[in-house]
Amino acid sequence: MKYAMLAGALLLAAACQQPAPKQEAETLPVKDQHTLSNADSIDIRKLDLNIGVDFEHKQISGVAAWHVANPQNIPLLKLDTYGLTIDSVSVNGRKVQHSLDAALPVLGSRLNIPVDQSAELVQIWYKTSPEATALQWLEPSQTMGKKQPFLYTQSESIYARTWIPCPDGPGIRFPYTATVKVPAGLMALMSAENVQQRNDSGIYHFSMEQPVPAYLMALAVGDISFKAIDSITGVYTEPAMLEKAAWELADMGKMVTTAAQLYGPYRWGRYDVLVLPPGFPLGGMENPRLTFATPTIIAGDRSLVSLIAHELAHSWSGNLVTNATWEDFWLNEGFTVYFERRIMEAMQGENYADMLWELGYQDLQGTVDELGKDSKDTWLKLDLHDRNPDDGLTDIAYEKGAHFLRLIEKNAGRAKLDTFLRTYFDSHAFKTMNTAQFLQYLDANLIKGDTAMASAIRIKDWVYGPGIPGNCPRAPQKRFAKVSDEVKRFKEGTAAKTLQTTGWSSHEWLYFLRALTGADKEKMKELDAAFGFTETGNSEMADQWFVMAVAADYEPAYPAMEKFLSEVGRRKFLTPLYAEMMKTPKGKEMAVRIYSKYKQNYHPLAQESLNKLVK
Ligand code: BES
Ligand code: ZN
Repeated sequence: MKYAMLAGALLLAAACQQPAPKQEAETLPVKDQHTLSNADSIDIRKLDLNIGVDFEHKQISGVAAWHVANPQNIPLLKLDTYGLTIDSVSVNGRKVQHSLDAALPVLGSRLNIPVDQSAELVQIWYKTSPEATALQWLEPSQTMGKKQPFLYTQSESIYARTWIPCPDGPGIRFPYTATVKVPAGLMALMSAENVQQRNDSGIYHFSMEQPVPAYLMALAVGDISFKAIDSITGVYTEPAMLEKAAWELADMGKMVTTAAQLYGPYRWGRYDVLVLPPGFPLGGMENPRLTFATPTIIAGDRSLVSLIAHELAHSWSGNLVTNATWEDFWLNEGFTVYFERRIMEAMQGENYADMLWELGYQDLQGTVDELGKDSKDTWLKLDLHDRNPDDGLTDIAYEKGAHFLRLIEKNAGRAKLDTFLRTYFDSHAFKTMNTAQFLQYLDANLIKGDTAMASAIRIKDWVYGPGIPGNCPRAPQKRFAKVSDEVKRFKEGTAAKTLQTTGWSSHEWLYFLRALTGADKEKMKELDAAFGFTETGNSEMADQWFVMAVAADYEPAYPAMEKFLSEVGRRKFLTPLYAEMMKTPKGKEMAVRIYSKYKQNYHPLAQESLNKLVK
């Protein structure tokens, strides 16, 4: 499949008879440096997983059965593992002698399985380690209900290998089935066809018919209930959260319809969301058919649902057309942010989407300042050689990527870009895409020799160059202009409680707070008295407010801040807050104390980031 596409691209390049730009070398079979598997030369047809979940020992164990074909008679099937114990391996039912290479720091241990041309079924009996990065095991006390334990996985980017022996690169896709045994009374869910009711046996069967890469394999187990929103969408969560979550996400069905109207049919059957306990390290994860989401989006006013639009949009950008390697991550995330804002625009209007664009632009600016405007890490195309793909997880892929598409929209016109994107998703469905391939496709199908357009966009400056190019589009700010007026009045001495804030959404409040960065203790006190920021239930606002509180040493916010840090595990919130605390001796003491107290509530991934920061 991959090669057919490649041949097409080469033919096209030859037909155009233009001197090949340097980056075209990349369209040759790209090596994914973050997998040790050779599953690009052995056909991976399907996975049948049969596992048990043992909460007491924090262990998953069972058998991964890979259906393969080996027409090239490759002598070894190589798979990714990290921290797995491999008990035994058989090929076509006969036990074989496998070997496990020494562990590499980021990539783990390659599992080598002798095969020949007749190999069809490779079965691997294995166990996970209690430290598996993908797995978060929650004690009952860390859940909302406090009575049952909970487990969930987070496989992106390269952590599927910590719970399944697999070809763990985004370029290898396979359909899967799974049988999962969990303690009776608990419910199990996967990124697959799911039941809506628990059963008493604790045995659950799953099937994902569409081929997906390993990073989209996901499992959750706990005291989970389901509530339908409409015939194709619904919410899963702990019973205590169910009604609130269903209310917050009531527009999900409309969102799916809106997205499909924009960029083509939704190809995954159902779309459900699982709202996890608060320790979830992310905002959301686009596990196919079943987005995993942080409970911090349940704000009580539907103000943070653009996060669902984002994860839903991945059903096209990412899950349908997948970045070939983690260096092409912007093809997943940048497209998704663009798509997310188009969904929000269609549902909430242009002025609303423009606020999201502006907040995103501010994030982009902040990230470029942090990384340095000449840093190679601010290129869209990343260089992750000898690095963990997590190093590429910055707002560059998201916001620079999205603004790049917005720039193309501005130059080509919306109608043209939309047609282009619909065809792009359709013609590359269930395939992978790398940066050079995309640029070629863009050239052949949208730019089509329009040199004026090409020089207005300056593709290379965006993709293979640093910082924010001078032609970066900015959204007009009807709603934020009013906020800026109030900020100005406040700075000039108008009392906080007399500011005109009626009807502000959390986006306006966030913009307001960002504009007041640097406020001193007295101003903080006045703002708090007028608007009650310390007690806000909106996680985005709370996070921004607490960062400002630490900077101003505004002590009345500290108890609420500590409570926030004890519950919320979302890395995006934790990192800036701990970083701000680490800036002063007093803050540092507080950071160390709070972190050591609540560390065990955070996911291994969040701990990894914070261990580097808090010391
Ligand atoms: N796919 C990402 C999450 C991710 C990326 C996990 C890379 C691990 C490695 C997901 O779609 C995402 O972007 N989540 C964001 C929310 C979004 C609204 C920007 C998050 O979790 O903050
Ligand atoms: Zn995303």
